[in-house]
Order: sequence, then structure tokens, then C-alpha cells
Amino acid sequence: METIEISGILGLTALVLLTLNILMGIMLSTAYKQSDYWKKLPAKIKAFKIIDIHNYTAYFALVIVFLHFIIIPLDPSSKFSFNHLLKPLSAPHQPIFVLLGSISFLALLIVIITTQKIVKKKLGTTTWRNIHVISYATGLLFIIHGLVMDPLLKDRPIDFIDPEKLLVEACALILLAAFVFRYKYKVGKK
Ligand code: HEM
Ligand code: HEM
Repeated sequence: METIEISGILGLTALVLLTLNILMGIMLSTAYKQSDYWKKLPAKIKAFKIIDIHNYTAYFALVIVFLHFIIIPLDPSSKFSFNHLLKPLSAPHQPIFVLLGSISFLALLIVIITTQKIVKKKLGTTTWRNIHVISYATGLLFIIHGLVMDPLLKDRPIDFIDPEKLLVEACALILLAAFVFRYKYKVGKK
């Protein structure tokens, strides 16, 4: 398997993990334990601590994203150098969409850093929360990035029915539905 293919698989894995993470974040902020759906679930599922899973998947996804991009320059056919990773707009392929990936990574890093106990305490809950909700914008950026990037870096147009891109599209729809649910919950509460 080519290095660039491994990078693509890691990118898709990170995208799915981050989608699940946003879903769990929404569960946490909408008092999921009081919902009738949750109450009807088997005890084994209810034993899961969503806050812990939300926490672990965040770190796991961060490591996977890091591996996803750090190995790209190791494939000579990618024409990427490590410098291109630091300056995405100078990337040899689809620079604007590489930039969206870079912004997603930075946003992920910011959300994780600001969630560390000492930082969170200094920021206060309101500021922490305001920073945390940038995750919705991050979701939009990594979906566009994952959909548009050509996995073989040949600058081909998007193949919407390619199985990998179908996975990205499915995550996009799930995130959209979850966002609408979260918005309605907020409006309903008001
Ligand atoms: C470092 C690990 C993390 C911890 C400990 C953590 C913790 C939390 C907690 C406690 C909440 C509930 C907030 C509330 O309503 O009171 C939450 C919500 C949320 N989290 Fe995280 N989080 C982490 C990382 C992430 C990451 C990396 C993402 C992005 C992929 C994310 C996305 C969200 C979202 C979208 C919400 C719902 C925000 C809302 O609509 O109010 N979290 N998180
Ligand atoms: C949250 C952050 C990121 C996520 C979730 C993500 C996800 C993805 C996904 C799903 C693909 C398409 C794979 C496929 O269709 O098979 C992809 C491709 C790509 N991404 Fe990312 N990415 C992220 C960050 C980055 C960063 C920071 C860079 C570089 C600075 C980058 C560079 C690339 C490149 C060059 C490709 C095309 C080659 C390949 O498939 O590996 N990505 N990414």
C-alpha cells in the first residue's frame, strides 16, 4: 500500500472519530440522560460514560490527524515537503483545501488545550464553552477538506460516488441533522 493511501485511510478515520465526538458533545450539552430514547436503552449501553469517551476520542483523533498529514511528505509522488505542511497555501496540490485541513487541526488543538483543567479554570466556563463551540465550524471545514481532497493527489474533480467520499457525505448529513437537533433544543429551552 502506498503511503498516500495510508494517509487517506487515517484522514477518513479521523473524520469519522471527530464526527462521533461532535455527536457526543451534543449529547453532553443536551442533558441526554433525561431523554426518553436514552432511558429505553439497555443497561449495558447506559453504563458508558459519554464524557469519558468524548474525552478519549478527542485525543485519539488528534493523534490520527497528526499521523495523517505528517506521513504525506514521505511519499515522493505527493510532491509535498514538511515545509508545505507549515505553509499550506504553498502546497503543490489543492492548497486552499489543504489550508482548511490545517485550520481544522489547529482548531482541534485549541479546543483540547483549552479543555485542560488548569486552562479551563483560568478561562472560566463561559469562555471555555464559547471556544468549545468552534467545533461546529471545525466540522464544516474538515468535511469540505475531506470531500474535496483528491486521495491520489492528482487534482482530479470530486468523485461523489466513490465509497470513501460517500463516507464523508454520510458524516456531513449526520452532522447537519445533529446540528439542527442542537439548534432546536436551544430554541426550545428559551
Ligand atoms: C479534550 C477533551 C474534551 C473534553 C474533556 C470535552 C468536554 C466537553 C463537555 C463537558 C461538554 C458539555 C458542555 C456543556 O454543555 O456543559 C462538551 C461539549 C461539546 N464538545 Fe467537547 N470536550 C473535549 C473535546 C472536544 C473536541 C475535540 C471536540 C470537537 C470535535 C468537541 C466538541 C464538542 C461539542 C460540539 C460540544 C457541544 C457544544 C454545545 O453545543 O454546547 N469536544 N465537551
Ligand atoms: C481535522 C483535520 C483533518 C481531517 C479530519 C482530514 C481528513 C482528510 C480526509 C477524509 C481526506 C480524504 C481521504 C480520501 O478521500 O481517501 C484527506 C485528504 C488529505 N488531507 Fe486531510 N485531514 C485533516 C487535516 C489535514 C492537514 C492538517 C493536512 C496538511 C497540512 C492535510 C492534508 C491532506 C492531503 C494532502 C490529502 C490528500 C491526500 C490523502 O488522501 O492523504 N489534512 N484528509
